[in-house]
Amino acid sequence: MTVKRVRRVLVTGGAGFIGSHLAQLLIARGDDVVIVDDLSTGRRENLPQHARVRFVYNTVSTALTGELAKEKFDEIYHLAASVGVKLVVDNPTKCIENNIHETGELVRFACTASFENKPTRTLIASSSEVYGKSDKTPFREDDDVVYGPTTVFRWTYAMSKALDESIGLSAFKTHGLPVVITRFFNTVGPRQVGDYGMVLPRFIAAALKGEDLPVYGDGSQTRCFCDVRDVSAALPKLLACSEAFGGVFNVGSDRAISIRELANLVIRVTQSSSRVRAIPYADAFASGFEDLRQRKPDLTRIQRVIGFSPTIPLEKTIEDVAVLMKH
Ligand SMILES: NC(=O)c1ccc[n+]([C@@H]2O[C@H](COP(=O)([O-])OP(=O)(O)OC[C@H]3O[C@@H](n4cnc5c(N)ncnc54)[C@H](O)[C@@H]3O)[C@@H](O)[C@H]2O)c1
Repeated sequence: MTVKRVRRVLVTGGAGFIGSHLAQLLIARGDDVVIVDDLSTGRRENLPQHARVRFVYNTVSTALTGELAKEKFDEIYHLAASVGVKLVVDNPTKCIENNIHETGELVRFACTASFENKPTRTLIASSSEVYGKSDKTPFREDDDVVYGPTTVFRWTYAMSKALDESIGLSAFKTHGLPVVITRFFNTVGPRQVGDYGMVLPRFIAAALKGEDLPVYGDGSQTRCFCDVRDVSAALPKLLACSEAFGGVFNVGSDRAISIRELANLVIRVTQSSSRVRAIPYADAFASGFEDLRQRKPDLTRIQRVIGFSPTIPLEKTIEDVAVLMKH
């Protein structure tokens, strides 16, 4: 009788927001999980405490060319990156190095990292930012992308993620790497921190303190928020599906809500006495930031391939995050 080998999975960025939820699911599935994270934005307390988790505290490129160079994996999830427009506007050089160089190294590794020295199934996290400032809605994966000038660092993040996609897709074409690209739209939920400009944790923290919730312009710009528990559950399903290889997938919710409505929803759910405060666009734009009117995914492709549909309503996400923030 042959004993089935336990699946070995590598998660980069596994101490981060989305990566830690994913690692938890993979552990629950019975996998051995290796997490590589340099804790630049992630947190040690996010790491799942389990005998089948090994944590490598390093950058992706250093870990893959050093400690993990000879190790084999059945699946790789690459989530490590400089995340969010604010971080990137503050340090665009770091973003370019962190996103493009690290992804190049990861793909090189993935091309021979399976137990048969063949390419390993690999998921690369991308972003809805890749669509740039296109005003088309909803965004479909094969739509054109539209960026502003290279002198505006707001677009550096989008371009770095677009190049990450190309690195993965070209390895699919030239080396047969079974790669899946996921373009996350606004992902929210437990463990997200507001330090890097993420709107929902900042709103919830302000509401719990009774402070004003700042909204840019008239707050009519819309976004679609999806709970991280729905997003992370979709990722192993995509990697298990050969039809997904070489493909790009929007992952998120298609329920649009204006930022003003979001602020009011947070106030209602947290039963806060806070008020919404309008911030003139001119003040927001002074930092080189350009807000976009809407950002909604077309989910047809991911629905067709893995039957994805978000299950956790935004109200529940707000409740859960508020409970955690109170403790
Ligand atoms: N959260 C969202 O709404 C969202 C939206 C679009 C795309 N994404 C993408 O999803 C992925 C995960 O994002 P997140 O929200 O969990 O962010 P996060 O900052 O919580 O997670 C990123 C993790 O990567 C680690 N990291 C960064 N650079 C590293 C490096 N060179 N080597 C090793 N570790 C490194 C950080 O310490 C952190 O733990 C990223 O690729 C991001 O671009 C997220």
